Amino acid sequence: MRKRMLYVLLALVAVACSHDTIETNAHTNNNTGRTLVVYYSFTNNVRTIVGELTKQIDADILEVQPAEEGLDYAANNYKIGSALISAIRNNPNSPDSYPAIKPTDVDVAQYDNIIIATPLWWSQMAAPMQTYLFNNATKLSGKHVALIVSSASSNINSVVADAERLVPHATWMGQPLWINNNNRSRTATLLTQWIATLDFQSSTNTSSMYITINNQTHNITLVDNQATQQLVAKLQEGPINVILNTNADFEIWGPLGFSLPMSNEHINAQPGDVVLYNGSNICIFYDTNSWNYTRLGHIDGMTESQLRTFLHAGESNIQVTLSLSSTPSAIKSVATDAAKSAYYTPDGRKVANPLHGIHIIDGKKVLL
Ligand SMILES: Cc1cc2nc3c(=O)[nH]c(=O)nc-3n(C[C@H](O)[C@H](O)[C@H](O)COP(=O)(O)O)c2cc1C
Repeated sequence: MRKRMLYVLLALVAVACSHDTIETNAHTNNNTGRTLVVYYSFTNNVRTIVGELTKQIDADILEVQPAEEGLDYAANNYKIGSALISAIRNNPNSPDSYPAIKPTDVDVAQYDNIIIATPLWWSQMAAPMQTYLFNNATKLSGKHVALIVSSASSNINSVVADAERLVPHATWMGQPLWINNNNRSRTATLLTQWIATLDFQSSTNTSSMYITINNQTHNITLVDNQATQQLVAKLQEGPINVILNTNADFEIWGPLGFSLPMSNEHINAQPGDVVLYNGSNICIFYDTNSWNYTRLGHIDGMTESQLRTFLHAGESNIQVTLSLSSTPSAIKSVATDAAKSAYYTPDGRKVANPLHGIHIIDGKKVLL
């Protein structure tokens, strides 16, 4: 087993030096998607933790670095560090509150699992790490995220709250790990035990999904971009149900119920094309249209007239299920208000007048 040694540090590579071998008792996440460890360290404690962590799992590493070099955050009773934390605390929604960090060309969106490792400063998350998370909140949306916090002795509750505020749409992989001066000597063991509890995301490197309408299912070949990666990550949690409507006799479209990263381009959409419109709407074409969209994929092997029939062209309130399985068995979530109080069968069919048996309403199973 060989550790992937793609180091994406902006500078210091000290942690890399001792990582050529993997401990025999180490957990590995070979069956999972790609993992990125993002860390910040001022006095090397977190750097040491990350060094140990990446002996135990396969991961790339990104070190967050303040744009301004040479600052001593601990000088004069931690004056600079304290001022940075206060600025964020006073106005957490303003980009101006966050100290600049050096740019990086590592795209966190390319990873399935993100482990954040940060020091605690005045009971909060260290300011440079807060900047990184603030700047990358959208890309981290839907990712599997875990948190390691290093403090001298203070509890990490407020750092956890910072993480939840800065990455509100993360899927947390497990409990945060707190390493402090009392347990620091047992870092390797603590990490081993902690890693074993984490729910790593499997790879989102999936190139197709399925669309089901009225019990007919077809394959959609996906393009590879941030939008489809996040969409696949969501679909790995379960099928997505949307209610779409015909628009202008060339498409059915409607809200997904969540946003995906846009990479808009001017597209001459063709029958079968599936695109993202305005970040949070899905459009499926049975005819042509030119507009700015983000490509998602294409329904394979169907003529325009077959598409019209399959997509229920001309109709409203079309119940569409997107999934990674050709036989989606359960409804995970219902995206639109209109559908919220409707009943569905376990295989995703909307039922106007439910009789007996198991049905799903508002995402919950009920026995009628
Ligand atoms: C500006 C600043 C403020 C800190 N505030 C606290 C604190 O309130 N409570 C605590 O237990 N440790 C505090 N620490 C100590 C660090 O959390 C601890 O040493 C951590 O392990 C440092 O990680 P690092 O060496 O990777 O930078 C502070 C350190 C700095 C630099």
